[in-house]
This record gives sequence, structure tokens and C-alpha cells, in this order.
Amino acid sequence: MTEPKDLTATADTAGTADPNDPTGPAGAAVTRKPDLVTLDEVRAAARRVTEVARRTPLLRCDGLHGGHRVFVKAENLQSTGSFKVRGAANALLSLDPRPRSVVTFSAGNHGAAVALVGRALGVTVTVCMPPGAVAAKVGAVRRYGGEIVFTDDLIGSAAALAAERGCPVLHPFDDPAVIAGQGTTALEIFEEVPHPDVILVPVGGGGLISGVAAVTAALSDGTRVIGVEPETAPTVGHALRRGTPEPLPVPPRSAADGLNAPRTGALPLAHVRQHAVELVTVGEEDIRRAWPLMAAETRLLVEPSAAVTVAALRSGRIGLPECATVVLIATGGNTSLGALGDAASSANAVP
Ligand SMILES: Cc1ncc(COP(=O)(O)O)c(C=O)c1O
Repeated sequence: MTEPKDLTATADTAGTADPNDPTGPAGAAVTRKPDLVTLDEVRAAARRVTEVARRTPLLRCDGLHGGHRVFVKAENLQSTGSFKVRGAANALLSLDPRPRSVVTFSAGNHGAAVALVGRALGVTVTVCMPPGAVAAKVGAVRRYGGEIVFTDDLIGSAAALAAERGCPVLHPFDDPAVIAGQGTTALEIFEEVPHPDVILVPVGGGGLISGVAAVTAALSDGTRVIGVEPETAPTVGHALRRGTPEPLPVPPRSAADGLNAPRTGALPLAHVRQHAVELVTVGEEDIRRAWPLMAAETRLLVEPSAAVTVAALRSGRIGLPECATVVLIATGGNTSLGALGDAASSANAVP
């Protein structure tokens, strides 16, 4: 892989000598190394989810960054309006025996995806969501028949509910089946653009970037996978720096609500280290400006979490070769026209 250059945190600078070292950084407890997701597992996931997840278009949008070939993977057009249905479908379809109910936790997109798949399979779904969840996402979970429990302690509440009901927690990112499902996004990208220079991925808990990195390592040596995190929610960067998937010291609070994961997990952390994923952070003001700009330039209704990639491109902190081929994953579109319009007026970004 290309050496990371001007980014804020990378697997190489995160204080971990050997990504395969099960002992982690000096002094850490000995833990078993999690198995990394393989290309074969992602290919199996692609076959499994084909009934539920649709193939999304890869749109050429050079206007997003002058002088480069820019492609946008339009996962906002995915069923449920985000890539999350890929991982949710693969995970639920892989559970054997199939449970009668599952509990999960989510800012909304993963919850809606699990609810949709659960309804199709006759599995009852309960989603722990933050009280301030975006209305479009609350509505989507309910529309697909999910029960919602509003709570500030997403992970604790989900674990307690699952224990009470004797059912599994379907983790939104720290689960190999979820990561393999999310990786199917990258399979589709490489079918159309075999060797991009860079793939830019919004990062919350790190499930999507783990799947994308696993596929990229297998199929496109030399392609840089760059994760973009809000400065106010640097979940995976924090874990890399600390050498363990510990929670952020202050709760995340980005306008890119899908990226507000309080912590990553052992499995995403292992993928990000092993595949030398690079990370860059973007500020809230930059996200707010990039959001309407991305929508106007692509003519897509995207949510703020998807726009962090455009904020990163425009920050100038990603060193690119001349006329680079860049792929951005537009991860979701669950927002309201009103909110986007407000952001457009305040940023005055729409021509
Ligand atoms: C729209 C959107 N983009 C990106 C992410 C981040 O995905 P991950 O948690 O797999 O890093 C999420 C997570 O909910 C999301 O909803």
C-alpha cells in the first residue's frame, strides 16, 4: 500500500508495532486476535444479500474536485437509504438457528436496515436509539416495523434488553458478518473502476471501512483506503492512538449523526491496523458547508455523514497524484429536504 502522508492518524503512527501482535501495545492484556474478514466471505455475503440489497450506481462527478476523476458510489439510493442494509442482511441471514427476535443499537440507519430485513424474515426487531435521533431515521425504523427504545446508553441498554429477552444483540459494526456485508460495496466499485487511487469512506464505528479495506487489500494493491471522521467523533482514530477500542473521552456530537459511534470494536480496529487504513478528520463547519455542496454537485439527496468525504477532499489534506481516480462512498440519504435547505442557506453554497 502507498505510504500514508499528510493525514492525522494512520495505523502506522498509532503506536502499534505489529498489527498481528495479539498482545497489542506494551502492557496491554493478552487477547485473542480477531479473525479478519476475507474476500471469499465478502463474495459469499454478496450472494446472500442479493435479494435485499440493490446494486447502486457509481456516478462520475468530477465537479466535486477539479482536475481529478471523481466517482460517487450512491448508497443513498440503496434500499432503506443507506449501505447498512448490506451488513444487516448478511448478519441476520447468517444467524443459525434464526432467532425470533434481535436487539440492536443505532443512530438510525442500521436500525432501519435490521428492521426491514427482520420484517422479511419474521424476526422481531428492537432498536436502541439516541433521544435526539433524526426524525427521518426514527420514521424509517417504525415504518419497517421496528420497536424503538430511546436511551443515551445505547450499548448498555441493548445488552440489558437482550439479556432480559434471551435474544442476540446484532452489533452494528463489531461483527464479521456485518463487515463482510458492508464489503460488498467495494466489490461493486472494483467491478466498474478496477484500480482507483483512493477510496474515501465515512467512518462511524468502522464496519464499512473494515469491509472496504479487506476487499481492497485483496483486489487492488496500491489503492489507498482513507477513512473520514468528524473531529468531534474520532472514534477509530482514538482507538488507534490508544491501541484499544476504548470509548471516546467525551460523547460524540457531530452533525454527521451516523458517525457518532461512542466507540469502535476489536474487529474494526484489527482491520484498520492490518490493512494500513489512513484516517483524516474534518471539522463541523466544513461538514456543514460540504453537505449542500455535495447534494448540488451530484444532484443526490445525501445526509451529512455522506458529505464528510467531500469535506476531506476540499480540505486539501489528502495528497493526490495528478488526475487521480477518487471514489467517494455516499453512504446514506436519510435526512430531510428542510434540513438540507437550511444548511444550503447558511452555507450559501448552492449556486
Ligand atoms: C450514513 C452513514 N454513513 C456512515 C456510517 C458509518 O458506518 P460504520 O459504523 O460502519 O463506520 C453510518 C453508520 O451508521 C451511516 O449511517
